[in-house]
This record gives sequence, structure tokens and C-alpha cells, in this order.
Amino acid sequence: MQGFLNWIDARFPLTKVWNEHLAEYYAPKNFNFWYYFGSLALVVLVIQIISGIFLTMHYKPDVSMAFASVEYIMRDVPGGWFIRYMHSTGASAFFIVVYLHMFRGLIYGSYKGPRELVWLIGMAIYLALMAEAFMGYLLPWGQMSFWGAQVIINLFNTVPVIGADLSTWIRGDFVIADATLNRLFALHVAALPLVLVMLVFVHIVALHVVGSNNPDGVEIKKLKDENGIPLDGIPFHPYYSVKDIVGVGVFLMVFFAILFFAPEMGGYFLEHANFEPANPLKTPEHIAPVWYFTPFYTVLRAVTVSPFAGTLAMFGAIVAILLLPWIDRNPIKSWRYRNKVHTINVLIFALVFIVLGYLGVKPVIPVLKELGIRMTEIYFMFFMVLWIHSKPGKAKYMMWFLILAGTVIAIDLFRYNPEAGDDAGQIVWQWIFPIGYLVLTLLLPMVKSFNAEKVVPKRVTS
Ligand code: HEM
Repeated sequence: MQGFLNWIDARFPLTKVWNEHLAEYYAPKNFNFWYYFGSLALVVLVIQIISGIFLTMHYKPDVSMAFASVEYIMRDVPGGWFIRYMHSTGASAFFIVVYLHMFRGLIYGSYKGPRELVWLIGMAIYLALMAEAFMGYLLPWGQMSFWGAQVIINLFNTVPVIGADLSTWIRGDFVIADATLNRLFALHVAALPLVLVMLVFVHIVALHVVGSNNPDGVEIKKLKDENGIPLDGIPFHPYYSVKDIVGVGVFLMVFFAILFFAPEMGGYFLEHANFEPANPLKTPEHIAPVWYFTPFYTVLRAVTVSPFAGTLAMFGAIVAILLLPWIDRNPIKSWRYRNKVHTINVLIFALVFIVLGYLGVKPVIPVLKELGIRMTEIYFMFFMVLWIHSKPGKAKYMMWFLILAGTVIAIDLFRYNPEAGDDAGQIVWQWIFPIGYLVLTLLLPMVKSFNAEKVVPKRVTS
């Protein structure tokens, strides 16, 4: 065996790569629950690629056959239902895992220096993943595939001057048709998976240059023993390779429980309308994207000044996450050692993201429309408040409270249009959300105990 390994090593740096990235890659010894999701994202990526290859063996990218070929996979191909559900449940699992992975980055400040590039590459993965999921959803050629794509591709129509040409170019036709299905199929099965795999590779290489962050936000590379090994580090293999296998085991149990017992998840993972073939002459009563897009869909619907403004707000909501390393300049990484209002701010943001997602699947009725606007306001204010919290000792809390609260009210006066059905009562009582948010995040820190930061230890704790 050793002889064979030597033979390989003389021709390819196998042992070197193994040691550098696994056996002698020192990871902080205090990884917790939140550190499972990186390796789980890798597992789901593999599940998607393998199940996708098998689906492609039976799927037909042709508008007259696509829907029927998916039904054929579900009913006639041996084990076809299993492969299809693996892929469709896998798509939602991917986003659940990636959202939790990103949330970990947020709470422990993993986006901050020296890991800005790891974060940016992560965001590129996230964008590629959204494009991949969107294109995959068109393939079954169901009602929601067709009309969802209609809504999304029409967003490009809102771009001034070039909009109409741009969306025609994307569709490859004047309407969503066979050319659109064919190109989205090519991108979904070939181009984007390649991009995703390459980005994930670069993501991990970039991470291994700077090393992992941890729940304490302590840089373990700063304290090394006489052999140059971080005092708070343990070799990734076998410690975390074994730990991650436990995580994968638990994940697969949950994943298969969903796959076998609730693969459509009540219409959230596979929407009911998508079990009907696409009909360009019949618009579904209520068009909603799949749950993982809905937070941004609500932002799009909340900004009604002009269609382009809505599109910009939607993309702006993603760009804001991308810019986190430069928005949050507080040197303390982990929320463990920042002030209490920072924790409140982060938890409210997570809640607002979930509420935005929920609103995106609901039909627009006045109270929910207004709530969508309020949640969108808080979504964007989160980033401003995070910036203000960068220097909690010196921040001018009252000034910022007045500026932001004043802006919320000024926007309300500007947008109020009773002829379009706006209800003043609705607008006023829902002030409770943005103003309440500002009270919690900008007035509360004026109470000393809420603004106190803790001393970050030199070594990792538990
Ligand atoms: C296919 C999707 C992805 C895969 C397979 C993936 C994989 C990984 C792996 C294996 C790690 C190291 C283990 C860990 O820290 O959990 C990691 C770390 C990290 N990832 Fe990802 N990732 C993905 C998407 C993302 C996204 C969307 C972001 C954020 C925008 C992101 C940001 C980060 C950051 C900041 C770290 C370092 C965390 C730390 O050291 O605390 N990743 N990723």
C-alpha cells in the first residue's frame, strides 16, 4: 500500500493535499452545531448532481413532452419517483442548509476580515444557486414553472431603455417557449452545476488560506506552539471528519423522512399548481415563487413607486448582504461579546426574513401588503443599524433614531395614495413595526447595560 502511495506521490501531491487540507489542517476546537452546515451543503450538492444526472436520462426538454416526461419518471421509470423527489426535496434542503450556514456567518461575524473573500465567494455561490433553482423549476413545464418564469423574466423588462430587448434575448423568443426551455435546460444541467462546483472549490481553498472562524471569533492562528501548531486548533481529520459524519447521519434521517412522508411539504416544496401542465392562456389565480425566493419577492412587491424601483430594491436586498463585511466595522466578530442590542438586531433580522418569506407565498390583501412594506423597511434598516452599531461607545443613537424614524414617516407621506386603495389607518397602526424596531435597536442602547460589550478572550472558550 505504502509503495503504491509513494508511486502516486511521485506523480501527484496526494499525501501533501491530504495533509494540508485534512490531517494537518488545524480547525478551532470549539466548533458547535452551526458548523455542520458547510459540510451538509457539500452533501446536498452531491445529492443534487447525482439525482440530476439520473433525471436527465429520462427527461425531455421539449414543450410538447417535458410535462409528460416528468410524469413518466414519476410513474413508469423504476425508482423514478424516488430520484425526482430526491432532487425536488434536495433543492429546498439546499436552501435551508445554506440559509443556516449564512446565519452562522452573521452571528459569529465570519464575513469580517480576513474572511471577506470567503464571504464574497459564498455570495456568488448563493446567486448561482438561485439561478440554478429558478431554471430547474421551469423544466417540469407546469403552470407555476411557466408563470413563475414569466414573472421573473419580465423583471428584466423593467430595465429602462434596453428592457424589452433584454428579456427577448433571455427568452430566445417573444414569449416563453421551446427556445427558452432548451436554453434554461442547458444552463441548468451543464453550465451552472459546473460554475457551482468550481465556486465551492474556490470557497474552500480561500477558507483554508485564512483558516476557520469560530463561535468566539478568536483568531487561532495568532497563538501557536513551538511547532507552529495553533494552541486552540485540532486536526480536521479525524476530529471534524468524524463529527461531520454524525451531522450527515442526522441530516439524512430528516431528509429521507421528508422525502418519504411529505415530499411536496403541503405545496411549499412543490406547488400544487405545478401538477397541471403549463397553459399560456390561463394565468393561475395566485402566482408565487418557491419559498426560498419569497423574501425577495415580497421586497419586490413592497416597492411600488415604479416596476424598476421594485426590481432594484429586490437586487439591493441581496447586494446589502454581500456588503456586510464593509457595513459592519465593529472589530468584535462573535455576537457572544457584542452588546445586547446587537443580538436583538440580528434576531429581529432573522425573524423579518422569515416573515418576508411567509408574506411572499400569501395573496396580497391590504393588511399583508402593508406588513410587507414594513418588513421591507426593517430589512433595509437592519444594515444601517448594524453600521451605526459598529462603534457602540460613540454612536449618536438619538440622532440616528430621529433620522430613520423621520425617513419612515416621510416615505409614508410620499407613498400614501387613497385612490390606489391605501388605508391611512392601516399605515398608522403598522408604524409599530419600524418604529418599535428603531426603539429596540437605537434607543435601548442608551441604557448602559444594553450597550456594554464584553472583553473578547485571547483563547477559545467552550
Ligand atoms: C453550495 C454552497 C456552499 C457550500 C458547499 C459551502 C461550504 C463551506 C464549507 C465546507 C465551509 C467550512 C465548514 C464550515 O465552516 O461550516 C464553509 C465555510 C464558510 N462559508 Fe460556505 N458554503 C456554501 C455557501 C456559502 C454561502 C452562500 C455563504 C455566504 C454568503 C458562505 C459563507 C461561508 C463563510 C463565511 C465560511 C467561513 C465560516 C467560519 O469560518 O466561521 N458559504 N463553507
